[in-house]
Order: sequence, then structure tokens, then C-alpha cells
Amino acid sequence: MSEKLHSSPTTQIVSPFMQEPELMLECVNLCKVYSEGPAEVQVLDKLNLRVYAGERVAIVGASGSGKTTLLNLLGGLDLPTSGTVMIAGMNLASLNEAQRGQMRNRNLGFVYQFHHLLGEFTALENVCMPLLIAGMDVTMASRKGEAMLTRVGLAHRLEHKPSELSGGERQRVAIARALVTEPRCVLLDEPTGNLDRHTAHEIHHLMAELNTQLDTSFIVVTHDEEFARSLDRVLQLRNGRLSPLEVGGGHQASNPADDATHED
Ligand SMILES: Nc1ncnc2c1ncn2[C@@H]1O[C@H](COP(=O)(O)OP(=O)(O)OP(=O)(O)O)[C@@H](O)[C@H]1O
Ligand SMILES: [Mg+2]
Repeated sequence: MSEKLHSSPTTQIVSPFMQEPELMLECVNLCKVYSEGPAEVQVLDKLNLRVYAGERVAIVGASGSGKTTLLNLLGGLDLPTSGTVMIAGMNLASLNEAQRGQMRNRNLGFVYQFHHLLGEFTALENVCMPLLIAGMDVTMASRKGEAMLTRVGLAHRLEHKPSELSGGERQRVAIARALVTEPRCVLLDEPTGNLDRHTAHEIHHLMAELNTQLDTSFIVVTHDEEFARSLDRVLQLRNGRLSPLEVGGGHQASNPADDATHED
């Protein structure tokens, strides 16, 4: 900002480049207690998070710290014990099951820790499924599905069923299925854990491309330190809450937006 703008307290000039970033996802005081077992387990404890459109956030944390639990709540696959999750301005708790499904289909892509592909369908059919659910015709869906499978390096495996694919190939089909609808926000649970270094890099590159081209937000649970560092922010889940990863802990949160996210 120029000197001149600073020195004119009565005139407020708002640059079109300084618009408030769009809030993609927000959770407030999120709590999750599992009470099915012999003892209650409080996994999330008043957790807060804000993610803006186009932000790429890594979530790290020990096994059992609640990373998958958190992603399931963010994606509306499970409901919190208390607290709220807002996606694109919609409070998930105010939606019924069918509306939550529709919201997911329109706004979110989900890569599960264990891929959850449909065993009786081919790779191409699995990837086309969310497009068909959204109402796209079969020819167009097939074209898009094939293009996305090609981008994850599986053009030669379109007709294979999940049982005929390797673990890493299945994971790539799951990634293609999450990205094919060009969702506004993608939640990924250890997306490249089963992949060799080169293939993992290709997937990271694809994510970076979508982020630049479509302003897609990414929330990625990962143990890949180098990849986590390459994103906008690294948050650690510990004792049921998120905080920027401490300097010296292996990562450094580098984004000034950290102050505006209200993790605690
Ligand atoms: N349905 C459930 N009922 C009871 N406890 C559960 C349930 N699901 C998860 N938990 C417990 O909640 C805690 C968090 O589990 P979660 O799967 O979210 O961990 P995580 O951080 O994703 O771990 P990992 O890195 O191993 O995938 C664990 O202690 C787990 O045992
Ligand atoms: Mg997990």
C-alpha cells in the first residue's frame, strides 16, 4: 500500500485485490466423544478451524489423535457430539441425510484413509460415479473420468476392478474419484501413504495444479513432512485441538493467515 493511502485517514480506499477471502469451511467448538466401548473416549475437545477458499492445510498428529475422526466430521460423514461445522456457509447439522449427501457431491471431494472403492465396478465406473450422481450424462462422465484417471497415471487400467489393482493404484483411483467433480474443497486422509516417491510427487503436482487453476482448498492428513511443508499451513492435532506446528517440531507454519484461523 502506498504512503498516500496511509496518510488519508478519512478516505478508505478498498482495493479489489484486498477482498475478504471466502470462508470455505469453519468448525467451532467441535467435540467428539465415542461412547460405544467400555469407556468414553473424548477425541476432539472444542476444536476450532477456519479454512479459506484456495488454502492448502496439512494436518499432522500421532496415530489415534483423531485425524480421521476430524475429517469425517468436516465431510459430514459423521456428526459431532457438540459444536458446529459450516461448509460454504451451510451448517451441516441443519441438513438432513439427503441434503448432506447433495452438499458433499457439490462441494467436497473425499479421499479416505482406506480407499472405499466399490468392488463390483471398474476403475472408470468408480471415478464416474460422483459425476453420474450429480446428473451428468454417461458419455461426458466417461470422458471426464478417463481424463482424470490419465492424470493420475492409470490410463491403462480403466477397466480393472479394485481387486485387480495394486494398493497404490487403488489409492490413485480414489484420488481421481475425489477430484473428478472439481470440488471446491478436498479432504484427504493419508492420500499418498501407499505410493512410491515419484507417484506421490505426481499426485502432489496435480493437487497444486487444481489449487492454482480452480482455487480448490485442500485439507490433507499426511505423515509426509516434505509435502506438509510445501502447503500453506501445517496444523498439529493434539489433545483434541489444532495448533500451528511448533518450530523445531519438524515443521514451521509459514502463513501469516495463521493468526486468523483461531485454532486453539
Ligand atoms: N467408532 C469408534 N468407537 C470408539 N472409538 C473410536 C471409534 N473410531 C475411532 N475411535 C477412537 O478414536 C481415536 C481417534 O481415532 P482416529 O481414527 O480419528 O485416529 P487417527 O488420528 O486418524 O489415527 P491414524 O493415524 O492411526 O489413522 C482412537 O483412539 C480410536 O480408537
Ligand atoms: Mg486415521
